[in-house]
Amino acid sequence: MNVLITGGTGFIGAYLARRRLAQGDRVVIFDVAPNTKRIADIMSDVKVVQGNLANASEVYNTVRDNGIEKVLHLGAMLSSPCEASPWAALQVNVLGTVNVLEAARLFGQPQVIYTSTISTFGLHTGTTVTDTTVQHPTTMYGCGKAFVENLGRYYRSRFEVDFRCVRLSSVMGPGASARQISQFNGIVQLPLSGKPFTCSVTPDVKVPNMYFKDAALAVEGISDAPHEAIQMVIYNVGGIAPTPSIGDIEKAVKRVKPDAQIAYAPDPKIVALSTAFTVDVFDDACARKEWGWKPAFQKVDDVVADFKAELDNHPNWYV
Ligand SMILES: NC(=O)c1ccc[n+]([C@@H]2O[C@H](COP(=O)([O-])OP(=O)(O)OC[C@H]3O[C@@H](n4cnc5c(N)ncnc54)[C@H](O)[C@@H]3O)[C@@H](O)[C@H]2O)c1
Repeated sequence: MNVLITGGTGFIGAYLARRRLAQGDRVVIFDVAPNTKRIADIMSDVKVVQGNLANASEVYNTVRDNGIEKVLHLGAMLSSPCEASPWAALQVNVLGTVNVLEAARLFGQPQVIYTSTISTFGLHTGTTVTDTTVQHPTTMYGCGKAFVENLGRYYRSRFEVDFRCVRLSSVMGPGASARQISQFNGIVQLPLSGKPFTCSVTPDVKVPNMYFKDAALAVEGISDAPHEAIQMVIYNVGGIAPTPSIGDIEKAVKRVKPDAQIAYAPDPKIVALSTAFTVDVFDDACARKEWGWKPAFQKVDDVVADFKAELDNHPNWYV
């Protein structure tokens, strides 16, 4: 199958590209700033198009000229860059996705899988977030993603574009681009690479997290589900259970690397922001029921062990 992965040289997209190639797909990657170092091992097996999601013609040409049958739409500006320029975020995350949906409508109706975010729910949600919790996003990133979720649902009902969406929790793994305020990536990657890490939150800060391989698995799982199984269209998907605290992660890191250098210097502003986000249970019951979602990495120790194996085995992929 001809698969287009937008953001395909990013943290999750590059892993997905390797998986789709292994499954025999013809993979086209569309990225505004292709990180060719990250995909050096598969460069000769994929087609890389350097393009901007905000440029409709570049998106249309890519979908039309490559006979695309499925779009895994991961390309986006993440939270901090969206806050730095909400106007750029509107162009890329919102209008860029309009361009993907229009390309699907106009050129062969490829399936479109969209990766939304737990950030669409905003702060002060209470401790449990379900598929039907009201969304009150407080960031440009969250506002844009929430709008596009609904727009995709509209394209599904109005134009029969096979739009499906996974709403990911925070994603941790080697080489993450997002500088998460909760720091679940840094506290693993740096100490496991022999570098010290100073954490700006307190050990009790908890954030629903999933491993990056599970984020890719969720994209594939929803894509492969039979059309009639997809009722909710937009689904929460979580991973590690119970929701880990940063202290839980620290302990797991020290179980595999007892001399890991981890210190705490809590920044009151970051702690306040982290504690305003009170989600303890990110309920993904609909995904489990409708298309059999089940994360492969549910235990913190399994995540840290695989994180270490990835850094050891593929140091060049996660720079
Ligand atoms: N990482 C997380 O914690 C997390 C959580 C929830 C949802 N998501 C979503 O998953 C998707 C992938 O995230 P990631 O962590 O791999 O991010 P990433 O930043 O590593 O990858 C995103 C890719 O999109 C590309 N991109 C940015 N602007 C573009 C543009 N204008 N045109 C074309 N490409 C562009 C970037 O160059 C990058 O390669 C994103 O849509 C993100 O919102 C991520």
